[in-house]
Amino acid sequence: MPITFDEHSKALTIHTNHTTYQMQVDDIGCLLHLYYGRRTEGVMDYVPSRFDRGTSASPYEKAADRGYSLDFLPQEFPVQGAGDMRSPLLVVRDAEGAFGCDLRYVRHEIHAGKYELEGLPAVYAGADDDAETLSVTLRDERLGLEVELLYGVLPHLDVICRAAVVRNAGKARIVVEKIQSACLDFVHGDFSLISFPGRHGMERVPERTAVRQLSCVVDSAKGSSSHQQNPLLILADSDATETAGRCWAMEFVYSGSFKGEAARDQYGQTRLQLGLSDELFSYPLEPGAQLVAPEVIMTYSAVGLDLLSHNLHRCVREHVCRGYWRDRVRPVLINSWEAFYFDFDGDRLVEFAKLAKRVGIELLVVDDGWFADRHDDKRSLGDWTVNEAKLGGTLAQLIAAVNDVGLQFGIWMEPEMVSEESELYRAHPDWALVIPGKQPVLGRNQLVLDLSRPEVCDNVFDQICGVLDQGPVSYLKWDYNRLIIDIYSHVAADQGKVLYDYVKGLYSVLERVNERYPELLIEGCAGGGGRFDAGMLYYTPQIWCSDNTDAIDRLYIQYGTSFGYPCSTMGAHVSACPNEMSGRVTPLSTRATVAEAGTFGYELDLKELPEETMDKIQLQISWHKRIAPLVQQGRYHRLSSPLADPVCAWEQVREDGSLALVSAVVMEDHAYGTPHFVVPRGLTSGARYRDAERGVVYDADALMEVGIPLPMTMKAGSYRSFTYLLERV
Ligand code: GLA
Repeated sequence: MPITFDEHSKALTIHTNHTTYQMQVDDIGCLLHLYYGRRTEGVMDYVPSRFDRGTSASPYEKAADRGYSLDFLPQEFPVQGAGDMRSPLLVVRDAEGAFGCDLRYVRHEIHAGKYELEGLPAVYAGADDDAETLSVTLRDERLGLEVELLYGVLPHLDVICRAAVVRNAGKARIVVEKIQSACLDFVHGDFSLISFPGRHGMERVPERTAVRQLSCVVDSAKGSSSHQQNPLLILADSDATETAGRCWAMEFVYSGSFKGEAARDQYGQTRLQLGLSDELFSYPLEPGAQLVAPEVIMTYSAVGLDLLSHNLHRCVREHVCRGYWRDRVRPVLINSWEAFYFDFDGDRLVEFAKLAKRVGIELLVVDDGWFADRHDDKRSLGDWTVNEAKLGGTLAQLIAAVNDVGLQFGIWMEPEMVSEESELYRAHPDWALVIPGKQPVLGRNQLVLDLSRPEVCDNVFDQICGVLDQGPVSYLKWDYNRLIIDIYSHVAADQGKVLYDYVKGLYSVLERVNERYPELLIEGCAGGGGRFDAGMLYYTPQIWCSDNTDAIDRLYIQYGTSFGYPCSTMGAHVSACPNEMSGRVTPLSTRATVAEAGTFGYELDLKELPEETMDKIQLQISWHKRIAPLVQQGRYHRLSSPLADPVCAWEQVREDGSLALVSAVVMEDHAYGTPHFVVPRGLTSGARYRDAERGVVYDADALMEVGIPLPMTMKAGSYRSFTYLLERV
């Protein structure tokens, strides 16, 4: 029984295999948080200290007890208006415009299985997962406002999910000004917050900040989870490392604007919280209406960040990603973008497919430029009609020609967008998010369609089907290349709802596409990695990590991404050198080593390559075929950090320890320099491992102690990479 209620103490306890989470209903019905950490038994009601702290305010019933204040008691769902002056999860206004809310416990229920959220992505459990759901209902009597707190437990993964449903069960309108999904209150501790900031072309490079009495805010108010921050927060003991120290993760299963906060209060206590952004948000609820605060995945590790990431990887890979492609090795693809940009025709694509076939590539993706008058990025988004003059025939004919060569066919679309220069915009100018009387702010010359409107979603869905129904399309790259700035829906009475309703509209279209094309592989993309989150991964099992394909920059990007997302989700390609974005030259082998830590593919013009390079690519692909199941399903270890170490190394180990792949890229080398060692983890202690490529047998314990010395050579050149496939003997 993962979830239990103790009648005597009114403590609700959630156990996973290695962790315990506990809350308690107190004598005035407030829901206090007691504990989240390593597995333990008993009621920890001694944790909150009750002590008169002068200025901290008390609830009315506790006027005589100055040792009781929600300003310092740890809570499950702190709200504005009940005396807690720290950052709240909920702020509401009543019909008179007054702020203020006071929630008290009403009831709780425990169910078998994991809850679902209507219209929103959420972690799912299988019948064998022993999942359970706890629902706790709190109520504000004056407002008639009910909040249902949901806790979904996957014991074997050490994962607890949280979400909240706010219902107006009263008689007057209520406006939700802020709603977040989860918080964790810690009564003491010296913590760092690890967040994943970045920019276009350099997404999710980790940053570690000491948590002090100054709020650390990690957020996006851009309508999407963004390049600049990621909805993944890790709170760690300030001295926690990959293999030691306590750490807690919160990962948002949502793709729109979000806000995460970590702050110490005046008494040295820390609050970590995550949920919807309250910026550009104001959500009215008429009587009977409800609003769902999307899901946060939480996990805890007592032994450092390595295990924390492992828990998240398993959860995302097996309980967020769904469908046909979830456990399948993805086809090796070649994408036309960095090869041709807009400059291609049907013949060129078929030639490209033939060269790709010769080296073993399995799927050709025709990126931007195949539709309407799209010869540059200034026009035609929204008009998803095939440019037959450019392709020299119909899409069906092109697909057939590519299939005849022996490759599957994939295509790029940017379904959420419209160009001013398009038939769609001319016919339905009110379908774009633009503010009447204001010049719209353009991003890449385009506007965003108003997916908060069902009829716009229908049109987008129909246009996608119109393309996919023309022939056997195996893959769709779903792009999104600008932010939402002008927030105005022409039909919404309340513009503060639009950003949230947009995301729900997007999810509804993605769900319909998944239902209708169950074997279609969809890769998410947003100017590279601008919407890399667990919400999108529910619909698209892989996401293009970044438009930056430079192998060295990618080490930082993929390293950061690995904290919350498994290798199977990371779109990664080998591209040409010097790199289009950085101008850097790296060996082809290093580019492949780095791309092999993701879904793997190519993005360059094969015609430009000498025969010898084509032969090398062929070998890379056969190597990839050998290791891909291990990369996709294996347990991932970060062996060093590109931010701190001269060598960036990582490892994937089969769950039973029988096979491991160690990869390393030397980022910094000096003449007559010091030797570099890579120390693997997770091998079977006491066993021996064979490196068949090099004909060496290692003792596992020695390897995990001393490591593998990387070969030293004179005139070694830059950015050498090494891979070691170690098989247990
Ligand atoms: C975005 C994507 C690229 C490519 C272009 C096409 O920038 O991230 O991979 O698809 O759009 O316009």
